[in-house]
Amino acid sequence: MRVSLQEPWSIRGVEVPTRIVLAPMAGVSIQAFRRQGRRFGAGLVCSEMVSAAGIEHRNERTFGYLRVAGDEHPLAIQIFGADPRAMADAARMVEVAGADIVDMNFGCPVRKVTKTGAGAHLMEDPELACRVVDAVAAAVKVPVTVKMRLGVANGSRTCLELGPRLVEAGAAALTLHPRSAQQMYTGEADHSVTAELVERVDVPVIASGDVTSREKALAVLEQTRAAAVMVARGAQGNPWARREIAEGESFKPTREEVAAELVVFIREAVRELGEQRAVGFLKKFYGWYLGHGRFPKPFKQELVQLETTEEVVTRLFAAAPGAAPLVERLEAELPTAEDEVLLDALPISVYGGG
Ligand SMILES: Cc1cc2nc3c(=O)[nH]c(=O)nc-3n(C[C@H](O)[C@H](O)[C@H](O)COP(=O)(O)O)c2cc1C
Repeated sequence: MRVSLQEPWSIRGVEVPTRIVLAPMAGVSIQAFRRQGRRFGAGLVCSEMVSAAGIEHRNERTFGYLRVAGDEHPLAIQIFGADPRAMADAARMVEVAGADIVDMNFGCPVRKVTKTGAGAHLMEDPELACRVVDAVAAAVKVPVTVKMRLGVANGSRTCLELGPRLVEAGAAALTLHPRSAQQMYTGEADHSVTAELVERVDVPVIASGDVTSREKALAVLEQTRAAAVMVARGAQGNPWARREIAEGESFKPTREEVAAELVVFIREAVRELGEQRAVGFLKKFYGWYLGHGRFPKPFKQELVQLETTEEVVTRLFAAAPGAAPLVERLEAELPTAEDEVLLDALPISVYGGG
């Protein structure tokens, strides 16, 4: 029996309208990306991982990761860290910022993170991992979830032992990216392990890894019986792929549509990050958007050289003149930023809490 990607499901009371989840991606999943994800059929969107220590030290840039707009919900904000108390504090802040779900990163393989005991390192320390989940679940009213890898070393299946224990400690859902941390992004995601995890826990499981098409999404759901699939790399600069996965219709965007989405994304990124940071942040997106044979290669290289986002926008309008009215329409449809929660605008009392 074929499953439907349009079926709603829920994580302990948080309704998720489709079975597509937009992945947390460091350096990618800013608010602009998440809002676009919701417009293009993702039922749940997730922030990039936010450092619990950064929240604890009131780091200005870390707070920037906690901007939540009205049209993002349902939204999970992901935190990372290995100190139960700091993670609980961070979770409280994330809840105040407006997250519907607090997700914890137990899968990051990057040394900068694992050497602090966080990310995938927690898969090696089940006692501490459970204490972290227990502390975070006790700190907030919203559901808490965990994203894991298979384990640290190649061949590890630690997630199958750890998963049920995390649920016992309070996790309301689990996401599995079935590669080892050692594998990074090489090889293939082994969704046979995701299927085993689904059998072992009585909470929803989200299957992450190599979902780039509707066929693959349906095949993974069928193989694993997971509640939803997560899309990461397949969604980079390609919101149309997400819509295709979610709705099944083939969306081959015109040049104008590509340019218009990119212009809106650029402007939203500048509003969120400021011009200076946005210039560098956006460079990778030009390749992602303009590739797929949509624009000639030299054009992308030209954009990367430009020093201001305004120049990039001007070049995009020159290359796709019909994009301007599309941008106007898209911007008129976007809710204003008035309902956005900014932590630095909140009363100082919310920064307390231990
Ligand atoms: C650039 C990039 C950044 C990522 N950052 C995070 C992160 O912050 N937190 C996390 O849990 N996973 C992160 N991931 C892993 C993805 O969420 C996802 O599990 C993985 O890429 C497999 O899915 P895919 O095959 O659809 O890309 C990242 C992946 C990429 C490519």
